[in-house]
Amino acid sequence: MPVELVPGVYWVGAIDWTIRDFHGYSTEDGSTYNAYLIVDDKITLIDTVKEGFVGEMMHRVSEVVDPEKISYIISNHVEMDHSGSLTEVAARVKPEKIFCSPQGKAGLTRHFKVDLPLVEVKTGSELSLGRYNLTFLETPMLHWPDSMMTYLKEEQLLFSSDGFGAHYASSARFDDDLPGHPEEYGYQLKKYYANILMPFGPLVTKLLKQVAELGLTFKIIAPDHGLIYRKDPGAVLEAYRKWGAGEVAAKALVIYDTMWHSTEMMAQALVQGLTDAGVEAQLHRLRRTHYSDIVAELLDAGLFFLGSPTLNNGLFPSVGEFITYLKGLKPRNKTAAAFGSFGWSGQAVGLITDELKAMGLNVPHDGLRIKYIPDPGELDQLRAVGNQLAREHLLKK
Ligand code: FEO
Repeated sequence: MPVELVPGVYWVGAIDWTIRDFHGYSTEDGSTYNAYLIVDDKITLIDTVKEGFVGEMMHRVSEVVDPEKISYIISNHVEMDHSGSLTEVAARVKPEKIFCSPQGKAGLTRHFKVDLPLVEVKTGSELSLGRYNLTFLETPMLHWPDSMMTYLKEEQLLFSSDGFGAHYASSARFDDDLPGHPEEYGYQLKKYYANILMPFGPLVTKLLKQVAELGLTFKIIAPDHGLIYRKDPGAVLEAYRKWGAGEVAAKALVIYDTMWHSTEMMAQALVQGLTDAGVEAQLHRLRRTHYSDIVAELLDAGLFFLGSPTLNNGLFPSVGEFITYLKGLKPRNKTAAAFGSFGWSGQAVGLITDELKAMGLNVPHDGLRIKYIPDPGELDQLRAVGNQLAREHLLKK
């Protein structure tokens, strides 16, 4: 069934209950592709859905209006989870116009290579639908160059595209009707930010400032994934303010992989030292915890250790994969250090240290290396290092 947000505005999206991998990001709770229908003099569809879900969306649309009565489509974002069915929808609906940002026009043209009635809009462009009026807000690199948001003035309703989204399949559509799982949703909201928006934190801060300067207020925030915020849109704005600013807590992660458990022994000793210092400590073994979950936990951690054994003079493959993923996310405001055991050459710790420095992190020493198996004295030293870094870099701030 379609769900009415405010008079004449409906959620008509699709629920992807079974997706478990979203271009490499684990989606254990599934996702939604939210699309919205505004019934006014000009009937308008805001965003479409991923290819394969168009039947579900069009069924919901047809429960409200005849789809062929849709005059306008607004494409807030080119990425195929929102535009993958655009040509199919356009072929059926034959819209007068499809509104998108200038970069959206370039991106949609390049993706589809078919003639669509694309009309460019920019920040501040306005569109009257009848009783309702829309204003567009370009949000380049949040998280693609084409990204934009659409604001329905009369209801103070922001269609926020990927912004404020979460991969979360549920029968609930609103933040006030999520039965019994607010923590689970909060985790998915944070995981989404960490994996999709973390590299663009300064742009998030700039957007929130721009919104304040424009005097925009939101009674409802309707993203393209997850729940619609109508009970407390301020809560998600505040979460984005903190994450955009790169605020961190007295929290440390020890992330590692291991061949014969020596690097694992080092990891456990570091966790003990962190715990003894009184900070929140987490241990994550790569290949056991998905890297997209690790970066969700890393988002607000002020300190982390990254460990790898040396394999064939290099990094353990899962550690190399994690570094590749992490550096693309441009983590900020963190202290980091490398560790690892080795048999004879021991390059892994140096390689990790170089990568951590290249990410612009605070790297207070050149890493902790132990030959073959750590002895009790060496484990004591590792505990002491964990304890010391927690006190110096988490508790003194
Ligand atoms: Fe949900 Fe950037 O697509």
